Amino acid sequence: MKYRTIGTDPATRREVSVLALGAMLFGSRTDEETSFAVLDRYVEAGGNFIDTSDNYAFWEDGGQGGQSEELLGRWRRSRGVGDEIFIATKLGARPLAPGTSYVDNAEGLSAKVIRESAERSRERLGVSRLDLLYAHIEDHRVPLQETVEGFAELVSEGTVGLLGASNHAIWRVERARALAAAAGLPGYEVLQYAHSHLRPRTDVPGDLFPDGSLGHAGPDLLSYLRAEPGLTLVAYSPLLKGAYTRPDRLPPDFDHPGTPARLKVLGEVAKETGATVNQVVLAWQIGADLPIVPLVGMSSLAQLDENLAAVDLELTREQRARLDAAH
Ligand SMILES: NC(=O)c1ccc[n+]([C@@H]2O[C@H](COP(=O)([O-])OP(=O)(O)OC[C@H]3O[C@@H](n4cnc5c(N)ncnc54)[C@H](OP(=O)(O)O)[C@@H]3O)[C@@H](O)[C@H]2O)c1
Repeated sequence: MKYRTIGTDPATRREVSVLALGAMLFGSRTDEETSFAVLDRYVEAGGNFIDTSDNYAFWEDGGQGGQSEELLGRWRRSRGVGDEIFIATKLGARPLAPGTSYVDNAEGLSAKVIRESAERSRERLGVSRLDLLYAHIEDHRVPLQETVEGFAELVSEGTVGLLGASNHAIWRVERARALAAAAGLPGYEVLQYAHSHLRPRTDVPGDLFPDGSLGHAGPDLLSYLRAEPGLTLVAYSPLLKGAYTRPDRLPPDFDHPGTPARLKVLGEVAKETGATVNQVVLAWQIGADLPIVPLVGMSSLAQLDENLAAVDLELTREQRARLDAAH
């Protein structure tokens, strides 16, 4: 395994494995036995960066989520896991009632929700401190100042380590970080966005974001990362939920001329290296000149083994240039 540092403050920054494990479907679609087996082998291989959320996976059973955090809590207890394993979670997008969704009934990012939901996450995970807590989606009903202060209070009390944001317009991230900096408070240091080698159209309006998807890492985010070297991008859905091997899973916003061009180069590099396309995508992210940590979901040990091997796949400068340029 290889490691990189996330966060800048010597008191809270951590060394995490360059491949993060997504536990979104653990305890719901992925049964407990398989989930524990994947977690155990990931840790055996040196992995220490696990991702969950207080709303995972509410859509699987029409509830409010929490199964993933609960499963991780049981796994931690049964294996005697301590501080060496870094678990990130999120709040803000938990539906307020069973049968509803974050689209129109999310808990949001008020100071009260931040305090109470973080406490519930700590209980489910069985930890005294959340290593990394993200604002999962934006909340335009609450003043940003309140959200910034709410998160910072938990850091100063020691119940949260690092702070992060996911699926936010970059101008909102920058505004929140500027408010925090001006007040001498800790701000978001880890940004979690969908990012893969294939690029989606981002101008297609969605339920949540009428101006187009804010969940994807676009040029504004990449330029922000370049300008702020202390930030880390955690790239979610890097394997496009399995679409590289099952093209029927490719969402409609990938239906544009850039997709076949990128798939062609991915296939060529896979052939040259003897690796799989999935491994080339992950290695391309891990070795990028920007700090990117791919965050992959896996439902079997075979998938885990394939994905772990990407950590040791070194692409040449020329292969990387071809992958970057394909469009
Ligand atoms: N911040 C957010 O809003 C947000 C949103 C989505 C996800 N996430 C996080 O990101 C993590 C990963 O996202 P994701 O599950 O959406 O996408 P992903 O990692 O791109 O895809 C995971 C799925 O891809 C398939 N897969 C994985 N490795 C494979 C391999 N080597 N060969 C073939 N298929 C493979 C599996 O599908 P099958 O199980 O069907 O075989 C697996 O469940 C989640 O667990 C969650 O922690 C965050």
